Amino acid sequence: MFESIPAAPADPILGLADLYKSDLRPNKINLGIGVYKNETGHTPVMVSVKKAEQQLLETETSKNYLSIEGYTAYAQASQRLLFGAGNPILETQCLNTAQTPGGTGALRVAADFLAQHTTAKRIWVSNPSWPNHHNIFTASGLDVATYTYYQPETHTLDFTAMLNALESAEAGDVVLLHGCCHNPTGIDPTLEQWQQLSELMLRKSLLPLFDFAYQGLGQGLDDDAQGLRLFAQSHQEFIVCSSYSKNFGLYNERAGAFTLKTTTPQAGSAAFSQVKAVIRANYSNPPSHGASIVTTILHDDTLRAIWEQELLEVRQRIQRMRQLFVQTLQEKGAIQDFSFINKQNGMFSYSGLTKEQVTRLREEFAIYAVASGRINIAGMTPENMSRLCESIINVTR
Ligand code: LMR
Repeated sequence: MFESIPAAPADPILGLADLYKSDLRPNKINLGIGVYKNETGHTPVMVSVKKAEQQLLETETSKNYLSIEGYTAYAQASQRLLFGAGNPILETQCLNTAQTPGGTGALRVAADFLAQHTTAKRIWVSNPSWPNHHNIFTASGLDVATYTYYQPETHTLDFTAMLNALESAEAGDVVLLHGCCHNPTGIDPTLEQWQQLSELMLRKSLLPLFDFAYQGLGQGLDDDAQGLRLFAQSHQEFIVCSSYSKNFGLYNERAGAFTLKTTTPQAGSAAFSQVKAVIRANYSNPPSHGASIVTTILHDDTLRAIWEQELLEVRQRIQRMRQLFVQTLQEKGAIQDFSFINKQNGMFSYSGLTKEQVTRLREEFAIYAVASGRINIAGMTPENMSRLCESIINVTR
């Protein structure tokens, strides 16, 4: 039965992480997978997380199953973080949140729920996007269409093309939007553009699905949510899939959230019961540890202040590396103008490097980037910057 199964292609991001691990060259640089690294190239456990874990170690009394939707306190904290404490939406009883295994888990719950319990048949995903979006939605049986997002000559958002593509969507289609720090381009809509998108999607009855995996890594926790919060003012129905992998550094704990906004509380109860049925048939109920950490931190003023400070440092380090990268490329005589990188948000940058240049960087210089040219700015350090920029200049000459 298993003999004739062909091998699956390596995952464009996680496959690269495996390649990196097996590379024995001592000066290798990893700009592939979207994981934060500090100034010494290490992915640390945040101090706030360690402190929360200490508390949990002392207070946890059971490893009993959680309910299908996970912790209520986690759901509440997640909603407050998404929409901002004091946002009237929190009082509508039209929001239901399920704790999920990471943002990917939330997206898969969303995809299964949409495919099985709504009339939605098609989801629009930006071109380019995180490659796993296609896998997840296709696996759930949705058709995936793409909208243009990126203008390669100017390294900017091709907003006109984006609007034109979405004009051809049909009522009831779903549109996936990256809440902030667009993966892979690092280019986000402005507030005015969010407004236009919101109006277009209302007019055409398109369902917004926010993938919100980088809150706090762009401009700040509230600023990064401006698009989502603007949509929430006028859209009665939408879904948010959020993640704590990056902003809490909880990658391997798999802490994410699926949030459903319905028109009425009654519709919310019925729809969310189907969401729970989807979860039960998938992974039954979520893992506890990561979500307990997030809940502990977000419900404790002292820990929250420590976490916000740590997140600020993450954000500032990435911004410093962006600037140093552009400056070092310039100083070392790069022919191309890379200053557009300073305008991008979050961990990623769409560098403009071609697939061939990315391959040469890996093979000749032990520098790992995604084949699309996406580079993880958080993989840069003051130590590796010179060699990195010299190598890029070498392959782009
Ligand atoms: C990435 O885009 O590199 C991250 O979201 C990690 C992943 O799962 O692909």
